[in-house]
Amino acid sequence: MRKTLFVVLAAFAALFMTASSAQAQEQNASVVYFTRDISPQGLVKIYEALGVNPAGKVAVKISTGESEKSNHLRPELIAPLVQKVNGTLVECNTAYEGNRSSTQSHRKEIEKRGYNKIATVDIMDEEGEFKIPVADDKWIKYDIVGSHLKNYDFMINLAHFKGHAMGGFGGVLKNASIGVASQNGKAYIHSAGKTEDWHKLWTNLPEGWMSSPEKNTPFIESMSAAAQAVHNYFKARGGIVYIDVMNNISIDCDCDGRPHKPTIADIGIAASLDPVALDKFCLDQVFNLPNDKNNDTKALLERINQRHGTRIVYRGEETGLGTTQYTVVDLDDNDMSKVILDNIFTRKSVRSYTEEDVTPQEVETILKAAMSAPSGMNAQPWRFVVVREQATKDKLAGGFNKMIAKAPVVIVVCGKTTGRMGGENHNWTADCAAATENLLLAVNALGLGAVWTACYPYEDRMKPAIEALGLPKDVKPYCIVPIGHPAGNDKPKDKWKPENIHYEKW
Ligand SMILES: Cc1cc2nc3c(=O)[nH]c(=O)nc-3n(C[C@H](O)[C@H](O)[C@H](O)COP(=O)(O)O)c2cc1C
Repeated sequence: MRKTLFVVLAAFAALFMTASSAQAQEQNASVVYFTRDISPQGLVKIYEALGVNPAGKVAVKISTGESEKSNHLRPELIAPLVQKVNGTLVECNTAYEGNRSSTQSHRKEIEKRGYNKIATVDIMDEEGEFKIPVADDKWIKYDIVGSHLKNYDFMINLAHFKGHAMGGFGGVLKNASIGVASQNGKAYIHSAGKTEDWHKLWTNLPEGWMSSPEKNTPFIESMSAAAQAVHNYFKARGGIVYIDVMNNISIDCDCDGRPHKPTIADIGIAASLDPVALDKFCLDQVFNLPNDKNNDTKALLERINQRHGTRIVYRGEETGLGTTQYTVVDLDDNDMSKVILDNIFTRKSVRSYTEEDVTPQEVETILKAAMSAPSGMNAQPWRFVVVREQATKDKLAGGFNKMIAKAPVVIVVCGKTTGRMGGENHNWTADCAAATENLLLAVNALGLGAVWTACYPYEDRMKPAIEALGLPKDVKPYCIVPIGHPAGNDKPKDKWKPENIHYEKW
């Protein structure tokens, strides 16, 4: 397992994000944050490290646990995080007859566990269900989810990582698929598309699923498809982030009211924007544990293997949900400078982009970084025009830089050429250059890609920009920066040239 350990302090969460994302991008890997601190503070710290800024209504998806004996995440552990994001705890009813298979009985259990004391709890399928599209239709043609999912803009998928009787293990992918599915949706996933009626679930499970890993594969792959459906649903809205808490790990799930005792020592909390990388990281943690007096991993590993549990991450990778390659940012490590410098060293020009959008929150973070640049006499002469309209992007691209027309978002860095007293500000180009570099570093930090394309002082480039953007007379377009998710494999260039340095005298 590849491990890169970095320093992280909560106050510098965005920077951690920055460097590690950049490095991950370079390696085509995703960033997984990790702390051994399984506490309310540890949970908040790891969430902050993700560097997200949720807008709108936030759903925190947990498992409410089948009984008090289940190993579900306790309200005391999650309360500060849930309250910090003003989140609503969300769950769905179970597709097996039990304590939580009706809304009424489920509500009683929620009260017993105390979740309603820390936040509002929403049983998302209490008023029905609806279908969301799947990108992977090998087994299921859609995902059937609780109707209240429509009420949320952003999801924190807060999972307890542990074993599971049918899935082998359960982490964030299972929490996004089975956890968000309505009762009928759960039946549809478990049966790999054979029934949408939860009362008929048990007679429609994949044949021989218990007898061999291969026979359970349709279920495992269906879970991956459903998790991807939920992921894409929130990506098109405000976003989704993933957290796996690795404590009280037994072979059984929180849906088991009488689980086996945990047989391995608590590991920590991990988080990522990539659910595939995150579950793979957690799997690697348990597979790499020594089988010693603290850790009896045999039963758990047997269960995961026997159910073909690991298939879920590889299916997720095949279908583009995420990657099994990851870089670890260790939040307990204190060498922060590495992370920050790494972001600088790995920035590179990116000129081709996927169709995935850049969110308004990401644009805001990028612009905040740009405006943090130094400027002569602190004049801050930079102005920014954010462009998403295709016709405008086409005009900005002209015949020079075609990638401008193909990026989901373009930021035109402009400069106010006059100073406070109305005279010329001689520093405006230097100030705009500093802002642009900051902007590019933030882009890299967020795992996005961009390129600085020249505008000023070339009349033939400035004219179309001035016209397309309607710039006032004393504002000039300095450069144009197309931004998107990198489509290619751009690598940073090695520019270290000691011969360019002179000491004391030339
Ligand atoms: C002032 C300036 C103007 C640039 N103009 C363009 C441009 O018009 N088109 C382009 O593709 N790249 C442009 N670039 C990007 C450079 O080609 C790129 O930074 C350089 O090749 C080094 O590669 P790197 O950014 O990957 O380190 C510009 C960069 C700067 C600083």
